[in-house]
Amino acid sequence: MARAQRRVVVTAGPTFEHIDPVRFLGNESSGKMGFEIARAAADRGDEVVLIAGPVHLPTPPGVRRVDVTSAREMLAALREEFAQADALFMAAAVADWRPARRLRSKWRAKDGGAERATIELVRNPDLVATVARRKGERLVVAFALETGRGLARARRKLEAKGADFIVLNDASALRADRSTVTILGRDGSSLRLEDRTKRSIAKRLVRLARPDAGRFPVPRR
Ligand code: CTP
Repeated sequence: MARAQRRVVVTAGPTFEHIDPVRFLGNESSGKMGFEIARAAADRGDEVVLIAGPVHLPTPPGVRRVDVTSAREMLAALREEFAQADALFMAAAVADWRPARRLRSKWRAKDGGAERATIELVRNPDLVATVARRKGERLVVAFALETGRGLARARRKLEAKGADFIVLNDASALRADRSTVTILGRDGSSLRLEDRTKRSIAKRLVRLARPDAGRFPVPRR
């Protein structure tokens, strides 16, 4: 029998990739979209765990929060939480790269009088693609932030990441309370929500179901 309460995992905010104890590579993500999704899911009665990168936002009521810093920490938390989940909303702006080495004490490149320095970077794993590989019947919603014409790129990402939906937005959404998004489905569907509050977009997102859910199975011949 199906559980009455849906278990939902939401990721939100940036990841910070440390160079040394006090410096890191980060990004402009505020975490607002993910926090609104967590709030909307909890409001509709879902059991929600919010895996949050470093942001200063209050935890929505009824939500269990797991704080992480780096992409690799987020992956560890995600693997653990997704194992018992029914749905994932991957709103975090995960850093694609991290410094190859994290120095144990402060980076002192300028001490020798250098005018240039380089930081070697290595690729982070793709978190959503990693967990979506064995997602089975679970709903997976990814996000894409594109500048310019993003539709074709977002469609390719939807495919590459193995998600059910991808939510396309642009850089104007960063730190803002409003956004325009296009929700692209694996089934070819497309829904544009123009200049809405993140809260209203979140309410629409938590009502998404897997594109093939509820269809009658095709009888085998
Ligand atoms: N994502 C992830 N692991 C990464 C990078 C991204 O799980 N290492 C997820 C994000 O949480 C988001 C989606 O993948 O759901 C975004 O995809 P990405 O290819 O990183 O696109 P953008 O960051 O939007 O843009 P760009 O292609 O410019 O990096």
